[in-house]
Amino acid sequence: MKAILVVVAAAGILASGVGYAQSGADVAKAKGCLNCHEMDKKKVGPSLKEIAAKYKDDKGAEGKLAEKLKEGKGHPKAAASDAELKAALQYVLSTK
Ligand code: HEC
Repeated sequence: MKAILVVVAAAGILASGVGYAQSGADVAKAKGCLNCHEMDKKKVGPSLKEIAAKYKDDKGAEGKLAEKLKEGKGHPKAAASDAELKAALQYVLSTK
């Protein structure tokens, strides 16, 4: 019985570990980015492709945008961790 509990606990840890390895697309969905942004259509905010195109020559875009979203400067404040924001932004910037 005890052994079964250990296995269940280990499985739980593994499952939560997988949560951290979410792809940027998953994060964008889970964190509500897609409520306001669509792949190739303007919604509340510009489309992901439009954003990627705007920043395609800007090497510092990821850091700048992370700052903007985290601080809520000119953008609805994003309720996501730094790692999640990074993943989501890499995804957004890769959609060009
Ligand atoms: C409540 C609606 C809303 C949500 C939720 C939202 N956005 Fe936005 N987003 C906007 C609007 C409106 C703009 C256009 C204004 C601007 O440029 O900041 C925008 C612009 C952007 C830009 C371009 C900013 C620039 O300087 O050109 C990026 C990148 C972006 N959003 C990423 C995200 C990510 C990543 C998430 C999820 C963590 C997200 N957004 C969630 C509304 C939203």
